[in-house]
Amino acid sequence: MKKAIILYDSLYGNTKKVAMSLTRGLESGGVYVDVISIQELEISELNNYELIGIGGPTHFHGASKQMKSFLSKIKHLRLKNKVGFAFETKADFKFSGSAAKRIVRSLKQMKIPLIHSIITGIVLNKEGPLEDSTSSSMEQIGLIISEKMNNKVN
Ligand SMILES: Cc1cc2nc3c(=O)[nH]c(=O)nc-3n(C[C@H](O)[C@H](O)[C@H](O)COP(=O)(O)O)c2cc1C
Repeated sequence: MKKAIILYDSLYGNTKKVAMSLTRGLESGGVYVDVISIQELEISELNNYELIGIGGPTHFHGASKQMKSFLSKIKHLRLKNKVGFAFETKADFKFSGSAAKRIVRSLKQMKIPLIHSIITGIVLNKEGPLEDSTSSSMEQIGLIISEKMNNKVN
């Protein structure tokens, strides 16, 4: 069974909800998933997973302070045979920026290839809620990622 870890930062719980929906999708595709906040992760644990998903809220057009400090702790790691993806939540306006772009940059520094493009959940207000269709669309994306993983030969 393929193993995934989904790491999230979340001030009001919306990004955590996205993490949980992605998890349900991955699980429905037969992937084992651990979901952990970036504050709780034991960095040495990352070696145990083939898929690493990292996501957080967009703050001041980029990643949150907590996420930036987490990424600076892990970006020097050289983990073998992993794939990754980045997700984010943000408001739906032209200059909202992107937390996930920063995460993608760190995944690239870690030489972890991306299995999916940036995944974005839209919040209707700063504290949520997420757009109505978010949980089903995120489950769908989780399932698509699981299918890509299961098709990988190794
Ligand atoms: C300090 C702060 C700064 C924010 N800056 C942005 C921003 O630049 N762009 C944006 O789209 N949303 C911004 N937001 C809204 C957040 O993206 C939103 O609170 C977040 O997606 C909710 O996710 P969470 O419940 O996981 O914290 C900001 C929110 C906070 C608290």
